[in-house]
Amino acid sequence: MFPAVDPIPLPAPVWLFKVLHIVTLALHFAAMQLLVGGLLLATLWAALGRMRRDPVQLSASGAVVTRLPVVMTYVINFGVPPLLFAQVLYGRAIYTSSVLMGVYWISVIFILIAAYWLLYVVAKRAEMGKAWAWIGLVSALLILKVAAIYVSNMTLMIRPDVWQEMYRSNPGGTQMHSGDPTVWPRFFFMMVGALAVAGVGLMTLGLKKSLASGVGDYLARNGGLVLAGAALAQAGLAFWVMGRQPEGVATDLAANSIWRVGEFAWLGTAALMVACGVFAAVAPAGRRLIPVVVAGLVAFLNIASMTLVRDGIRDVTLLQHGFDVWDRTVVTNWSVVSIFLFLFVVMLGVIGWLISVVARAKQEVESYA
Ligand code: HEM
Repeated sequence: MFPAVDPIPLPAPVWLFKVLHIVTLALHFAAMQLLVGGLLLATLWAALGRMRRDPVQLSASGAVVTRLPVVMTYVINFGVPPLLFAQVLYGRAIYTSSVLMGVYWISVIFILIAAYWLLYVVAKRAEMGKAWAWIGLVSALLILKVAAIYVSNMTLMIRPDVWQEMYRSNPGGTQMHSGDPTVWPRFFFMMVGALAVAGVGLMTLGLKKSLASGVGDYLARNGGLVLAGAALAQAGLAFWVMGRQPEGVATDLAANSIWRVGEFAWLGTAALMVACGVFAAVAPAGRRLIPVVVAGLVAFLNIASMTLVRDGIRDVTLLQHGFDVWDRTVVTNWSVVSIFLFLFVVMLGVIGWLISVVARAKQEVESYA
């Protein structure tokens, strides 16, 4: 059912690949959700702000959208490492599913280039005070399409039972596998989560002193409300995702202590996110720093625990089909592993430093009305 395993042994232990996979994928999800949620909200505000001639709403949408091209660089660069780790650990599954939906899978590159280009267009138009909502909408739809393709492929890779039939009926790579009962719950779970993460982003942006009068307040209050509402809705969607899994997956997950802790950690952090959102929405301007910092930390833990449980769903499902991710020959090359880990930590430090420099840079008053 699965292609033969690569005879070359793994150059590092499976647990190390798994840790790196989950950490880098959580970073990819954080950036991706910031992008998707930020673009959807900014586009909505740009359209409403222009209809109502509301300068605060227009400036808030401009402040968000002009930052999204940078966020996109993080989406892509944090997407590459987990893709490599996924190929090392699950190559026999992910290569097969990627070939089965090959036309869609390869089209991601071109859809992404178009969406990215449109992001620059909207950022420029927002800076010039021109209308951009409809271009933002096109970019958002393209990005949602990319998300749908990812969800389809990540689902198809854990359905080896349908591969042969799919290939027999159409070997041309033009199938999306969107008929699986878990695809849409999974898609909406990730995209509603994007609104929650974007809520944290808006609250953080609202702390900036360079925003035009009233904009910081608008971002903090609306960011808090969006965070609280979306985190609550996502908790409901989590039960939908679990309820749609094939038989035995939810019970096998709960039987493993690491994944069970992950599930509780996810629920606990989701509840804290709702609380932080409500607090930031009602707190006076001077008392928002603490809920914003707490919301940022809690949101990352929430994403990381979701990434862990999601990984568990894959391992449990694949194991039901006889694919054991831990069953590999390992010949560790410790010198290469040490150099890699050293550079990895340095890279995270450099990124943190870059973000702090950008955050501290003095700016003139930002206005996009
Ligand atoms: C705007 C662009 C992108 C969006 C909206 C997006 C969205 C998503 C979503 C929704 C998932 C989760 C799928 C699921 O679990 O059901 C996902 C997973 C993933 N994405 Fe992205 N993605 C984007 C770009 C990229 C890029 C450019 C890369 C790599 C170069 C990448 C690498 C990955 C990997 C490796 C996974 C999952 C790996 C795994 O399950 O092991 N993504 N992405």
